Amino acid sequence: MSELIKIFDTTLRDGEQSPGATMNIAEKVRIAEQLEKLNVDVIEAGFPISSEGDFEAVKEIAKKMKRSQVAALARTHLQDIKRAWEAVRFAKYPRIHTFIATSDIHLKYKLHLSRQQVLKEAVRAVRYAKRCCDNVEFSAEDATRSDIDFLCQLLEKVIEAGATTINIPDTVGYAIPSEFEKFIQTIQRNVRGIEKVTLSVHCHNDLGLAVANSLIAVQNGARQVECTINGIGERAGNASLEEIVMAIRTRNDLLQFHTRIIPKHLFATSRLISKITGMVIQPNKAVVGANAFAHQSGIHQDGILKEKLTYEIMTPESVGIPKTSIVLGKLSGRHAFRERVKDLGYRLSEAELELAFKRFKQLADKKRDIYDEDIESIVVEEVLRVPRRFKLIYLNVVAGNVTVPTATVQMEIDGQLMQEAGFGDGPVDATFKTIKKITRTKSKLLQFAINAITSGTEAQGEVTVKLEEKGQTVIGQGADTDVIVASAKAYINALNKMEFKKQKLVGM
Ligand code: KIV
Ligand code: ZN
Repeated sequence: MSELIKIFDTTLRDGEQSPGATMNIAEKVRIAEQLEKLNVDVIEAGFPISSEGDFEAVKEIAKKMKRSQVAALARTHLQDIKRAWEAVRFAKYPRIHTFIATSDIHLKYKLHLSRQQVLKEAVRAVRYAKRCCDNVEFSAEDATRSDIDFLCQLLEKVIEAGATTINIPDTVGYAIPSEFEKFIQTIQRNVRGIEKVTLSVHCHNDLGLAVANSLIAVQNGARQVECTINGIGERAGNASLEEIVMAIRTRNDLLQFHTRIIPKHLFATSRLISKITGMVIQPNKAVVGANAFAHQSGIHQDGILKEKLTYEIMTPESVGIPKTSIVLGKLSGRHAFRERVKDLGYRLSEAELELAFKRFKQLADKKRDIYDEDIESIVVEEVLRVPRRFKLIYLNVVAGNVTVPTATVQMEIDGQLMQEAGFGDGPVDATFKTIKKITRTKSKLLQFAINAITSGTEAQGEVTVKLEEKGQTVIGQGADTDVIVASAKAYINALNKMEFKKQKLVGM
């Protein structure tokens, strides 16, 4: 029977220790809500003694969470534990997490305490925490660089004192999986009472081994893993939650465990953390990176289109990414190109497809990634050649800070001259509204961007607009030294494409 691995998320505590990742109270609460939606077992909400803000954040989160346990971190000092309890006591499922370092390096240089003093301090802290809360976790900081006999002796005593979870941190990310495996086995064998508590691990990623070390610990009896979204955390970060969860799910043949995480919320959670902390996710980041499900080479794209299993070990949908993205570029083959043209809604003859593919290859030699808009442009402008139903003949705009912006537009529509005038919130808005009125079109403006293509005040402005109608989008472009004229040209260009698309596509 598959055993449960509890996910202890420390994004709000260890994650916040990433340089530059400070979050305010409202942001922390928003993250906690998302973590609960993801269904993590424990949310480590903060370190209440460290600041008033942390205290308030932990308190707010504790009051709000309905399913997840809320943990507050405390050193073994009694005032730390007292403060942690004050913050977390209103939680439905509170936990106090107390820690002290056990390695000789930390004892000698940081704590200036003997092993016996550390042992006494740990036991006293757990006993005190236990008087406040039944759910007490104890962590032996820098465990992996500690003397194993001393560590085992200390762990035995804190279990006797009432700890319910025993956490083994690889604080400086120093362990190697085979070594960590033996370390966990020794603890399992030598610590009396270990079977009565939850054994947990907390691995840092200094050598890029945090996830590997966490998994080997799970295979050797750890039933709680401490981790963070996107692997953020002190220095090189912590074990990444999404990688652990998806490794357990994807390799269930070897890892016969399960977590309570709902994986389809992983992607949204990852983006939320990135947005709030400002920590960009590397594109090749496992599970949630922009390229995690993107296939670039022709051979891979061909394989994926024939059968996803060829190059995908999990589906993007399972982690909440809408679909596999095939990034077309110079290595892409005909198969991927044909599929993309079809997805964009065009039905081309073999000769038209061949011509479009040739143009695509020429463009790909100059431009690394080819987007849907580029393909659309090739198909519509160079292969199908959009007929210009709408033409701009004349445009006059009156604008300024003392007048209502007004546009007078003259156009040729199906060979007939037509004129209209209209107002708007600015000169571009007045122009677009008037064009819409003359052409009697219904497209919605989704995007508007201006770029200077030459420098100086006399620069050529290039305008790009994106229009949408009945789920179909088109891009229009226009250039002129007058940005209002360039905008009108871009808008009309997009309208012509939309008209053409309506005739070419089924169901529009
Ligand atoms: O890395 C570490 O040792 C920690 C402890 C406080 C658990 O973060
Ligand atoms: Zn840590």
